[in-house]
Amino acid sequence: MKGKTVVVVGGLSGIGRAVAERAAAEGARVIAVGRRATPADWRSEIETAKLDVRDEAAVERFFTGMGAIDHMVTTAGPVIGSSTLAELDMNALKDAFDVKLFGQIRTAKYAARVIARDGSITFTSGLLARKAVGGTIVKATMNAAIESMTRTLAKELAPVRVNAICPGMIDTEMWGPMSAEDHLAMAVKVGAGIPVGRVGTSEELADAYLLLMTNGFMSGTTVDVDGGGLL
Ligand SMILES: NC(=O)c1ccc[n+]([C@@H]2O[C@H](COP(=O)([O-])OP(=O)(O)OC[C@H]3O[C@@H](n4cnc5c(N)ncnc54)[C@H](OP(=O)(O)O)[C@@H]3O)[C@@H](O)[C@H]2O)c1
Repeated sequence: MKGKTVVVVGGLSGIGRAVAERAAAEGARVIAVGRRATPADWRSEIETAKLDVRDEAAVERFFTGMGAIDHMVTTAGPVIGSSTLAELDMNALKDAFDVKLFGQIRTAKYAARVIARDGSITFTSGLLARKAVGGTIVKATMNAAIESMTRTLAKELAPVRVNAICPGMIDTEMWGPMSAEDHLAMAVKVGAGIPVGRVGTSEELADAYLLLMTNGFMSGTTVDVDGGGLL
């Protein structure tokens, strides 16, 4: 990763932050991007920038201003709850797609213009893309679409490599606002139903993103990092 430039969209928290820190530790220049202010405990060697992936003009300006980059990782996604089809709020569905699916498409569209030929794009989907669970139609459909576009873009943007990581249950703020007690109780309960017996960490996910950035023979694939949760 030494001498490489990596943009992590969604890199100011959770899985994205772990990817940014790991890539920087491996010697890359890293720019972490999101809407929030830089966290107080931020490592100063990692650059930050503000970007809302729903704003196409801003995404274009950001990547045009970046100049050449080697890798783009995107983990940006909304915090959304479950809903049955009968109760589905179509506006909430469109808002979720606007961030997670259309946001990743927008960032890929403009990142592809500046990415090195031996570089990579790594998207983020989610286990519900292929695990059927009632009440999760929004996550199921948007994450499945991300995995589908990963394969298509791996051919269209070649030789740039395009892959996706499919996280299972990972302990981050994506679970929504809750007390530390409730958070721990949820981790224990959910973890008991996963073959490895626990939920995952952002650092374990970061390992997999690093693999996809550095292994030059991986393209068009979605890597499940879920402790066996899909089984
Ligand atoms: N944690 C899990 O259990 C789990 C399971 C399956 C899939 N995933 C997926 O993994 C990815 C990372 O999630 P996480 O667990 O690391 O949660 P997270 O900490 O909430 O990360 C999501 C990131 O998305 C960014 N974001 C949201 N809206 C944005 C926008 N309009 N423009 C730019 N950035 C935006 C947020 O930053 P700002 O608020 O600063 O914009 C935040 O940093 C998500 O795509 C999520 O769907 C997570």
